[in-house]
Formats: sequence, structure tokens, C-alpha cells
Amino acid sequence: MSVHANAPAAVIVLAAGAGTRMKSAKPKILHEIGGRSMVGHALAAAEGIEPQKLVAVVRFERERVVEHLLQIKPDVVIADQDEIPGTGRAVQQGLEQLDPEIEGTIVVTYGDVPLLTSGLLAELVATHDSDGNAVTVLTALLDDATGYGRILRAEDGTVTGIREHKDASDDERAIREVNSGIYAFDAQVLRSALAEVTTENAQGEMYLTDVLGIARSTGGRVAAVVTEDAWQVEGANDRVQLAALGKEMNRRILEKWMRAGVSIIDPDSTWIDVEVALSNDVTIKPGTQLHGTTAIGTDAVIGPDTTLTSTQVGQGAKIVRSDVTDSIIAEGATVGPFAYLRAKTNLGPDAKIGAFYETKNIVVGRGSKLSHLGYSGDTEIGEYTNIGCGNITANYDGVNKHRTVIGSHVRTASNTVFVAPVTIGDGAYTGAGAVVRKNVPAGALALSVAPQRTTEGWTISKRPGSAAAEAAFKSALDSGVNPGSADQVK
Ligand code: UD1
Ligand code: CA
Repeated sequence: MSVHANAPAAVIVLAAGAGTRMKSAKPKILHEIGGRSMVGHALAAAEGIEPQKLVAVVRFERERVVEHLLQIKPDVVIADQDEIPGTGRAVQQGLEQLDPEIEGTIVVTYGDVPLLTSGLLAELVATHDSDGNAVTVLTALLDDATGYGRILRAEDGTVTGIREHKDASDDERAIREVNSGIYAFDAQVLRSALAEVTTENAQGEMYLTDVLGIARSTGGRVAAVVTEDAWQVEGANDRVQLAALGKEMNRRILEKWMRAGVSIIDPDSTWIDVEVALSNDVTIKPGTQLHGTTAIGTDAVIGPDTTLTSTQVGQGAKIVRSDVTDSIIAEGATVGPFAYLRAKTNLGPDAKIGAFYETKNIVVGRGSKLSHLGYSGDTEIGEYTNIGCGNITANYDGVNKHRTVIGSHVRTASNTVFVAPVTIGDGAYTGAGAVVRKNVPAGALALSVAPQRTTEGWTISKRPGSAAAEAAFKSALDSGVNPGSADQVK
């Protein structure tokens, strides 16, 4: 069945809680796994079932949370929860932001349950609709149900209600089926039942869970969908749980890509964010992290020990032991080992940035090579140019950044320094150690180092008695050359 056939009227995501156990200045739901905030995962799962309205209920750190929500989903409906505590109050205030005559299915989820998928939500809604339920709750069987609301069932198995852990008897606490906190409700049943929910319980909160008993007592069908995938209903309350959920999310992402034809040599040391896109026959070597919106073309080989952040990598490119951010590596290009490519590095097809090279805001044309030991910033390089070992662009005069433009088929010698702004024409050469301060026309050779002056016999005359002088003297004798002033040494 298509997701759309059962599109709910609204999804309400509860995100008002403080999350004190994170011990963080940052609201719990803004903590990230898989490169996305927990509430970002909640919104993505909700969007996947195409609700007509998506509501988020906020309170703790309201401004910061709302800013984040609007950034990821500008048309999210924000509902503010007042000082009355509890999940029931939160949903009630979510409903207040919707049309009071709203009909159909209202789904409730949490902002801190990051592994929940659209697929499981769709299953919940489909069962709810096809069975004509008033309430359908998503449940799971846990070995340790401590803290959770327990699912109460009659002898015939029908769901009669939910008892919160703190309100439960010993017998009820032995029940292993727990409330995930994720539900599908009939909109009108939800609205009228919430009007009857009170705060008379162990925690003095308006319990959303009370809606089940109320719905049943007024003749509604209450049922459960039991998931065998307990990860999908697990929340993160502290950083230990957050890390465990992050690891499991990563395991799922890696499994998805391996099944899609990506080779991951060592899944235990590989981390891939949820928004990364990979083609088949990509190979990921150990110790690799792919973050943000990184996308990698077929036959590319990444790693070992490589971190790519929001970087596009073309077909057949190779990146070894390097760190690359917000960049483009075209097809057939090679990077590393030990390259540090900062934002806006655009490496052309079959081009190369080699060992111990740093770049920033640079365009490198097809087949050009920056093979060893250098820095290039604010630079444009044409095609098939070879940048010698140890070249530096001096792009910063202490106040402003300036550009270096180097043409095609240029050969720069070792240790050339380009003092920007400066332009090197096509087919030009530089000499070793050149400090290029003036433009070099096409086809020219630029030398800036003074011609070498050699003073014969200098060591023996100026450093008499030294080991160097002894060595020079011996070398002269061995090769039958008159050591010259060597006599003066003796
Ligand atoms: C709730 C359920 C419990 C279930 C458990 C699953 C109730 C009364 N109990 O427990 O049956 O097993 O979830 O995790 O619903 N929130 C608000 N406003 C509030 C209170 C909570 O928005 O006033 C949000 C929180 O931010 C969180 C979610 O609701 O995302 C659940 O709150 P939490 O306090 O963790 O759940 P419990 O009430 O302990
Ligand atoms: Ca909880």
C-alpha cells in the first residue's frame, strides 16, 4: 500500500521536555546522531507519511528549538505548551493549533526517538485506518520495562489501557509490553478524551495514556501494533543511550549501502551520516567517516582513515588518509595521503593533490598535479599544469586575501612562492625557490634567486681545524686536486 493512501491529517511531535539527564546546555532533541538532530530524525519520519500538517510542541529552550525546527522545516506548525505538565497537555496544545473541526487520523510521536522510520509509522496508520480504531498504540516487548508505561490487556487480549510505571502495582510492573509513546488517534476521539484527562496521578501530570481508557469506555476500539524492532521506539535520555542509538543507526545505514552494492571493508570503523549518497561499486576502507551531504560516484575508493564532509566525489576518484570539506573531487582525481582540503576545493578530472598539501578556495583543471608539500589558497590553475614540491601561495597580506591565477601546461619548480595577486601565463616556468611577485607572461621563465657564487677552498681557509675542513682536505687529496690553501691549515 502506498504511504499516501493513509496520509494522516496531522503528526504532532512532542518536543517540550527538558532532557535533564543529558547534562547539557543544549536541548536534548538538538543532540545529533547520524549527522542529524534527534528532532530532525523525528520530522523526517513524520514527513515520510505525508501528513497534511506537521506540528511540534515546544517549551524548554523554546527559541533555540523553534529556530532549529524552522530551519529544517519552514512550514512546521509551532505549538507552545504552558505550565501544565504531561504528554496529554502537550498533545492538547498541539491540537489547539489545528482546525477544531479536524477529522481523520492524528499521529503522535516524540522528538527523542531517532530510529523510528516512516515505514513503521505507515504500518501503524494503515492498521489504525483499516481496523477502524479510535486509538492504535505502538508497543514493544522489552526484557527490562522499568520506567515505561505498561500495556494493559483483557483476558481476550484486547488493549484496555496503559499504566504508568510510577502508578503501577507489582503485578502490572511484571508486564513486559510497553507503550512506545507513539500512537494513531481518531482526531475527534482524541480531542474529546483529552478534555476529560486530569492530573490526578503519581506525577501530577496530564497523561496522554489516559486517553486509551477514556476512548474505550465511550465505545471506541483501542488496539496495539506490536513491533519486533524495539530500536525504533527507543528514546535517548542520556549520552550513553544516545551513543548506543547512534551506533545502531550507523549499523543500519551501512547495511543499507552494502545491500545497494557498496563495499565497506570494516563496518566497525566506518561512519556514514544519514544524508550521504553512494553509488554502487564504491569502496570504503577502514577508518572512514562520511558526513553531511557527501555524495560519491561509482568505482571511487575512499580511505583508509579519511573524513569527507559535504563533498562530491566523481567516478573512480581515490582519496587516501585525507580530510576534505565542502569540496568537489572530479572523476579520476586522486587525493592524499595526508591532504587537507578545506572549503571550495574544486579538483578537476584526473587531477591530483598529493601528500601533505593544504588547499582552500581553489580550482584545479583537468590533469593538473600538486603532488607534494604545499599550500594553495584563492587560486585558479589551468589544465595539465605541474606545481612543484613545496609551492606556496602567499594569498594573505595581513589585511586582505588575493588571488593567484596559473595557466595551463605550466611547470613551477620546487619551493616557488606566489605572492598574490599574481598571474602566470600558459606554458610558463619558474625556477627553484622563485618568489614570484610580478606576473609571468605565457611561455616565460621566471627566476628570482640570485645566481650562485662558489668560493673554492672556502671551508679549509675559513673553518680551519674543523671536521668539515678535514673532510674537504681529504677529498682533495683523494681526487688528486691541490688542496690549495690547505697548507696554511697545517
Ligand atoms: C511516556 C509515556 C509512557 C511511555 C514513555 C515512552 C505518558 C504519560 N507516558 O513516559 O507510557 O512508556 O513515554 O518513552 O505519556 N513531553 C512534552 N511535554 C510534557 C512532557 C513530555 O512535550 O509535558 C515530551 C518529551 O519531550 C518527550 C515525550 O513527551 O519527547 C515523552 O516524555 P517523557 O517524560 O520522556 O515520557 P514519560 O512521561 O516518562
Ligand atoms: Ca522518555
